Amino acid sequence: MYKIFDTVDEVSRYTAQRLRDIILAKPEAVLGLATGGTMEPMYARLVEMLQTSPGDLSRLTTFNLDEYIGLAASHPQSYRYFMGRHLFDKLSLTPERVHLPDGLAEDIDGACRAYSAAIQAAGGLDLQLLGIGSNGHIGFNEPHTRFSCRTHAIALSEQTRRDNGRFFNDPDEVPTHALTLGIQDILEAREVLLVATGPGKAGIMAELYRSDADEALPASALKRHPNVTIVMDSEAAALLPLGSDPTPGSDPAPHGV
Ligand code: PGA
Repeated sequence: MYKIFDTVDEVSRYTAQRLRDIILAKPEAVLGLATGGTMEPMYARLVEMLQTSPGDLSRLTTFNLDEYIGLAASHPQSYRYFMGRHLFDKLSLTPERVHLPDGLAEDIDGACRAYSAAIQAAGGLDLQLLGIGSNGHIGFNEPHTRFSCRTHAIALSEQTRRDNGRFFNDPDEVPTHALTLGIQDILEAREVLLVATGPGKAGIMAELYRSDADEALPASALKRHPNVTIVMDSEAAALLPLGSDPTPGSDPAPHGV
């Protein structure tokens, strides 16, 4: 299902509301969380909503999608730091229930296996939140990653390193490798929410709309998932075949992704 809104703020409110609804309906929910510029205004809205009607967050479990290899938690561009700054430091979560892949693990393969296993042991993800890279990656699953992959280490594409260079003082500092939840792990989530905003995502969202499931476009794996919502602002949706004036909150593909 596609949801298209006029503004980033409306996208952020819709997405935050969905997360809040799950958290309130199921205090022991297991959430798959994402980082990136798209998520910053959404987490700001979520924090606002949860501070207004907090509920009990102590039983909530979270697993983040990915982490750079080689950045300490104290590095401002590590995803652990991002999550602290935008969400975790502002809520009363139970630290033992908050998980990110360990980009400093000595045994990377063992840490990856343990991460996917921990998600399964927690009962699986109730919802996986996703952004999308301009090359179609989800998590850091770059084009041609096998759909059958579980958590693994991956070399970042030049395009991803260029895109993420905007967050670093020097674009050459963007790590070359990362850990990411695999596409198989993502597909096992009971619900998936993919969020795309801004003109930089228009091309890939049009490609995704047209594409069948194809490993060349990682996000297209979601065509095999029965419960996906793709949330976009009008700029990200600009090249979808919807006419020039999509109705806010409209759903151009009511029969699925
Ligand atoms: P962005 O990243 O939100 O910073 O555009 C999304 C992604 O790469 O998944």
